[in-house]
Amino acid sequence: MSQSILTLIYIIASVTFILGLKMLSSPTTARKGNLVAAFGMVLAIIGTIFLYHDDEGNYLHNHLWIFGGLAIGTLLGWIVAKKVKMTAMPEMVSLFNGMGGACAAMISLIEFNHLSHLHAESGFAGMSHGILGIILLGLIIGSISFAGSMIAWGKLNGSIKDFSFKGQTIINILFLFFILALATFVIFIRPDATRILVYIIFILALVYGLFFVMPIGGADMPVVISLLNSFTGVAAASAGFLYNNKAMLTGGILVGAAGTLLTILMTKAMNRSIMNVLVGNFGGGGTASTAAGAGGTQPVKEINASDLAISLNYSKSVVIVPGYGLAVAQAQKTCKELEDTLEANGVEVKYAIHPVAGRMPGHMNVLLAEANVPYPKLIDLEEANDMLKDTDVVLVLGANDVVNPAAKDDPASPIYGMPVLEVWNAKMVVVVKRSMSSGYAGIDNPLFYHDKTKMLFGDAKKVLQDIVTEIKAL
Ligand code: TAP
Repeated sequence: MSQSILTLIYIIASVTFILGLKMLSSPTTARKGNLVAAFGMVLAIIGTIFLYHDDEGNYLHNHLWIFGGLAIGTLLGWIVAKKVKMTAMPEMVSLFNGMGGACAAMISLIEFNHLSHLHAESGFAGMSHGILGIILLGLIIGSISFAGSMIAWGKLNGSIKDFSFKGQTIINILFLFFILALATFVIFIRPDATRILVYIIFILALVYGLFFVMPIGGADMPVVISLLNSFTGVAAASAGFLYNNKAMLTGGILVGAAGTLLTILMTKAMNRSIMNVLVGNFGGGGTASTAAGAGGTQPVKEINASDLAISLNYSKSVVIVPGYGLAVAQAQKTCKELEDTLEANGVEVKYAIHPVAGRMPGHMNVLLAEANVPYPKLIDLEEANDMLKDTDVVLVLGANDVVNPAAKDDPASPIYGMPVLEVWNAKMVVVVKRSMSSGYAGIDNPLFYHDKTKMLFGDAKKVLQDIVTEIKAL
C-alpha cells in the first residue's frame, strides 16, 4: 500500500517539475514555477523518507542523520541564496550545481560498495553489466561535474585564473578516452577486477573535470556552467535509474535536457559552437585582456544630464538598452522611475534585451522584473533591431559588448558574428558608463566614436537620478 502511495507521490512530483519548468519560461510566472517544482521535490523527499521500504519490508530508520543533513543543507542553502548579489548569481549556480554532481558521484560510490558487499563471494559477477554501467556513468559524469563546477566557481569569483598548456585539448580528449576505456574494461572484460579500479576511475574523472574547465576563458564560463548543469542532470538521472526512483529519474532527465537546450541557445546567441567554446579561446583571460582593447585614443562627444533630459523629454520614442553595468549600479528602480516620468510626458519607452546582456541567461529580464517593468515592454533582439530604425533616442545603460558594431563589420574582432543590438541605426545614441574601459570581451567599442553617439560618464544610478530630476524640472 505504502509503495502505491509513494508511486503516486512520485508521479505528482514529476508533474510539478514539468509544470515548474514550463512556468520558468516567463518572468511573470517564474517565481511561482520555482515554488511549484520545489513543493514537488519536498513531497518526493518526505514520501521517500517515510514510505519507502525494501523487498523485505524494512523502512528507512536513520531519521536523525537524514533530518540532520536536511536541516544543515537547507539552512546553508537558504543563507547563501538570501545573501547572494544578483551579479554573483552564476557563481552560486555553479557551486550548487557542483554539489549536485558530488551527490550523484557519492551515490554511485556508496551503491557500488553496497552491491559489491551483497555479491562479495562472486566479486562483481553478481552485479549485472547494466547496473555496473549505470553506477560508473553516474560516478564519471557526477565527478566531472563536481570538479568542473568548483573550478568555474573559483574562476567567476576571481580566485582561480585560466590555465592551459600546449596540446591540452588533445591530452584532455585522450584522458577522457582512457577513463571510458577503463570503465568499459571494468564493466565487460574483467567483472572480477578489484575494487580499486572503480576508485581510480573516480579520481581520474575528478582530475579530468579540473582539466576540462581550467583552460576555458571567462566569457565562456556561463556556457560551461550550463553544460555542467546538464551533466549533473544526467548523473542524477542515472542515480534515479539505480534506485528505480521515478521522481529522481524525471528530475534528472529534465535538468539534463533543459541544461543542454540552454547551452545550445547561449552558444547560438554568441554565435559560437559548443566545440568552439570547449576547445577555442574566445574570452580567454576575460577581463584580463581589458587593457589591450580598452580606452581608444579617438575623441568622443559628451553630453550632460540636463541636455539629455531635454532630448529624452521631447522625443517620441526612447529605447533603453540595459547591460551588466545597470546590474552593478543596482539602478533598475531608478531606470523604471525614468520610464514612468517619460511616459507621463507622452514619450514611448521600450527596453531592448540582448540574450547575453549581463552575466547569466535572463539577467536583464530578472533585473527589470525586480523593478516591476511590465513584461511587454521588453523587446527581444530581432524585433528591437527592426524598431531601432524608427527610434529617436537610444539610452545604453551599462551595456558594451552587446552594442558593439565590430561584431558586424570587423572580421578581426573576437566577437565578429555575434548578433548585437544595432543601436547606431537610431537617430541619437547616448551611452552611460563610468569610463572608456571595455566590457567583458575586453575589446574597444567603435560605437563610442560614432557620429550619432554621445557619452555620459558616471555611475548609472547617479546619472539616472540626475536625468529624472532634470526632466521633472522642465
Ligand atoms: P559588458 O560588455 O560587460 O559591459 C558592461 C559595461 O558596464 C562596462 O563597459 C562598464 O564600463 C559598465 N559599468 C560597470 N559598472 C557600471 C556602473 N556602476 N554604472 C555604469 N556603467 C557601469 O556588458 P553587456 O553589454 O551586458 O555584455 C555582456 C557580456 O557578458 C557579453 O560579452 C557577453 O558575451 C558576456 N556573457 C554574458 C552571458 C550571459 S548568459 N548573459 C554569458 C557569458 C558571457 P565602465 O567600467 O566604464 O563603467
